[in-house]
This record gives sequence, C-alpha cells and structure tokens, in this order.
Amino acid sequence: MTAVESPTAAASGAAATAKFARSRATADTSPERLSAIAADALAALAGVIDEHGVTYPEYRVLKQWLIDIGSYGEWPLWLDVFIEHHVEEVAYRGQSGTKGSIEGPYYVPGAARLPAVCTLPMRADEAGERLVFAGQVRDLDGAPLPDATVEIWHADTLGYYSHFATNTPDGILRGTVEVDAEGRFAISTIKPAPYMIPHDGPTGWFIEKAGWHPWRPAHLHLMVKAAGKRTITTQLYFGGGEWVDNDVASAVKPELTLHPVTDADGVARVDYDFVLDPA
Ligand code: DHB
Ligand code: FE
Repeated sequence: MTAVESPTAAASGAAATAKFARSRATADTSPERLSAIAADALAALAGVIDEHGVTYPEYRVLKQWLIDIGSYGEWPLWLDVFIEHHVEEVAYRGQSGTKGSIEGPYYVPGAARLPAVCTLPMRADEAGERLVFAGQVRDLDGAPLPDATVEIWHADTLGYYSHFATNTPDGILRGTVEVDAEGRFAISTIKPAPYMIPHDGPTGWFIEKAGWHPWRPAHLHLMVKAAGKRTITTQLYFGGGEWVDNDVASAVKPELTLHPVTDADGVARVDYDFVLDPA
C-alpha cells in the first residue's frame, strides 16, 4: 500500500474536538448509576494494573499521554476508534433492522438536502472511481418509508472529510437525500479510499508503539431517519477491500459489506436497502 497524504492530527483533531465541544453532550444518568459505572471502570483498570504489574514510569507516561491527547484535541479521534464500537453494539442490542456502526468524529448535521436521484456535491475534478449507490428504505414489515432521509458523508480519495480539513471545500461528499414515494434513492458519488486515522499525534504514537496499524477500510457513513422509526447510524464497506478484515476501529460487520459491479462505462453500481426498527 502506498502511503497516502493524511489529515494532520493537529488540524482534523482540533476541528473534531471543537465541533463536539460546541454540542455540549448531556445524559440523564442518575448519581447511583454513575457511581456504579465509575466504580466498575476503576476496578477493571485496577485489575489490569495488577495483572501486568504496571510500573511508576509507565503510570507517568500514561499521565503525560492523556494530557497530550487532550492538548492535541484528539479525544474524539481516540475514543471513536477504540471505544465507540462497543457502545454502539450495546445501543443496538435487540434491534432487528439494518445493523448500526460507529458514527466517528466527522458527522456534520444539516448537510444539503438532495432529491432521491442525486449527485453529491464534489469538486469539478473530484478524483476517484464513480459510484452509484442505490436502494430503498423500509420498515420491518417491508413497507417503504417515503418520508425517510438518507444522510451520507464520506472521505475523498486522500482520506479527507469536508469541514475537517483545509483542502476540502465545505459540504463536499455530504448530503441529506430525500427518498422518493417508494422509499427509493440513487446517489452518485465517488468511491472513497481506505482511511488512515491521523497518526502524527498521540493517537499515532500509541498505535506505533504498540505495533498496531492506523488504517480503516474504505467506507461510506450513513444516518437513516424516518418518522416513528429508530434512526440508524451505520457505515458500509467494500467487500474484499483492504483492511475490511482488520479495521483499527473494529467497526466492520459482515452485513454492512457492499459488492459493487463496475459497468462498461466504468461506473461502479451497488444496491443496499435499509430496514428501520420502530422508535
Ligand atoms: C475516525 C475516523 C473515521 O472516518 C471513522 O469513521 C471513525 C473514526 C477517527 O479518526 O477517529
Ligand atoms: Fe469515517
């Protein structure tokens, strides 16, 4: 794999942190529940320290690294890569429609509304293989959901997301697609490339020192909504692609794999239907 240019941790990390901090997260956790979760989390950590005989120098390096993650603005990156996939699995326990996957740090609400058959905003000379991604949104009984929206966002072929890198015009490779009367959509875009999470800051040091790799397979991000239905946040991957079997963010599920077929005109086409659970 040739190395692709990647967003700097300083730039995309700071942008992702600023976006998240503006939204001011809240949860209605009771003091009792907070106490129980915090006590178990600390006990789990104590178990790891015991088991590995963690030393004072290691403890101090950890302290320094935690400070660095914060000052580089990398908490959204690190948490969404190493923790979010498990929160997602718990959140969608018992759900039977389309599988979810992690949101990651680069969702921006309010992307341009586009008709059911559309082309995502992109540069005039956007690099990448053309992709037409089509499908239908239905409920668990198979009834189409004509009021659904399919929000889509993905990286360009160098791994940059608009709004999080200075070299991408705002709004490109993002859209809020309004499905037609039969719940159908057909979105023209480009096929993203595998994505290297920013690796020039403390998340990267951590990955390198541990001998891991910083790659995510190429992916489309989706958020599908309809009135009275549970919103599904998910990702779709390309079957057989690099890193599909070894995603640094552990966010691939076999049900979320696309197998596009490239036509004589050089356009890759694929269908994928979304099934929403009741809210
Ligand atoms: C990260 C980036 C992504 O595009 C994604 O889908 C998940 C995580 C990250 O850099 O943390
Ligand atoms: Fe992503």
